[in-house]
Amino acid sequence: MALFLHSKLLHDHLPFMLLVFFSLGACRLHASDPPLTLDYYASTCPTVLETVRKEMECEVQSDPRNAAMILRLHFHDCFVQGCDGSILLDDTMTLEGEKKASANRNSLKGFEIVDRIKNELESECPGIVSCADILTIAARDAVILVGGPYWDVPLGRKDSVTASRALSDSNLPTPDENLLSVISKFLYQDLSVTDMVALAGAHTIGMARCASFRSRIYGGFAATSGHDPASESHLNSLKSICPPKGADNNITAMDYETPNLFDNSFFHILLKGEGLLNSDQEMYSNVFGIETKQLVQKYAAEPIAFFQQFSDSMVKMGNIANPDSFTTGEVRRNCRFVNT
Ligand code: HEM
Ligand SMILES: *[C@@H]1O[C@H](CO)[C@@H](O)[C@H](O)[C@H]1NC(C)=O
Repeated sequence: MALFLHSKLLHDHLPFMLLVFFSLGACRLHASDPPLTLDYYASTCPTVLETVRKEMECEVQSDPRNAAMILRLHFHDCFVQGCDGSILLDDTMTLEGEKKASANRNSLKGFEIVDRIKNELESECPGIVSCADILTIAARDAVILVGGPYWDVPLGRKDSVTASRALSDSNLPTPDENLLSVISKFLYQDLSVTDMVALAGAHTIGMARCASFRSRIYGGFAATSGHDPASESHLNSLKSICPPKGADNNITAMDYETPNLFDNSFFHILLKGEGLLNSDQEMYSNVFGIETKQLVQKYAAEPIAFFQQFSDSMVKMGNIANPDSFTTGEVRRNCRFVNT
């Protein structure tokens, strides 16, 4: 039954997958775009890194979940029109933002943190640092502040003057999606299967809502969890947080072992069959996920390999460009609104 289901999914998605492979590279490379550089603000706003770091230190100290919120914001920014701050735009009379897209509504948080950093930077170097760059630096700092790896952040992104609710709905992966479909969304961004597994390791911090894991706990958590006797009681505690109906916004940690620490325990949890999100567990348990399963095992066994790949993949994700941003892009004064 399960096998039938999977091969049907494979069959349904194959034409789409081929399409994705063919279009790769064709529209994503923009040789004429000025490249991002590490010293982009060296003369125009030399304090930028220090300012972002200080603000993030306060934010994460007051609540470690703030690190998770910022990291996810950056991801949801980059997967829609590239890393261009489009996620930060509020709805107005003339612009439909991305905040009400299904993956974001009632779920994305941390916008006030970006506002506070932006305010600080506007007083230090007005009109210089883009919101997209702020979010990219803040995400890096968020990871460090909860124990994760450091990486250098290339800078020089511009903020978009548009957002796309439609692309948010189509590009962002969802928790009840099957493995091939999630993979294709990463390939579409020029991110590999290796990038995907490493980046999903971000779920070593942060919370998910009942609405995001209900089908997982009522539709076969035990079936994929294998032989771990601890699973049953863990499953029951999840059910008490998340009833079959209602309490959609009740939350629990995706990494119940070390919820506020950026480590590789997320992968240990997948080995036990206890991934909270269906999409996460699929990386280890889907019968077609041979490569993803090997990567999960590798990152569970080798924390340093995970940190190294996560850093590299974060740079890659952070470099997804909005092709329009070098012509129509700007440095927003307020991250929530395009300049007038
Ligand atoms: C692989 C596909 C992915 C799927 C299907 C997925 C899905 C989700 C879902 C459903 C949640 C919980 C949201 C809620 O219930 O409100 C979540 C949270 C989170 N995601 Fe992902 N995600 C994926 C990849 C990523 C990536 C690539 C990153 C960053 C590099 C990331 C970072 C986070 C973080 C940090 C949280 C916790 C946010 C918080 O505590 O507020 N995710 N994700
Ligand atoms: C929400 O979760 C808490 C435990 O964190 C639980 O006590 C409460 O009953 C849950 N709400 C519902 C409606 O199940």
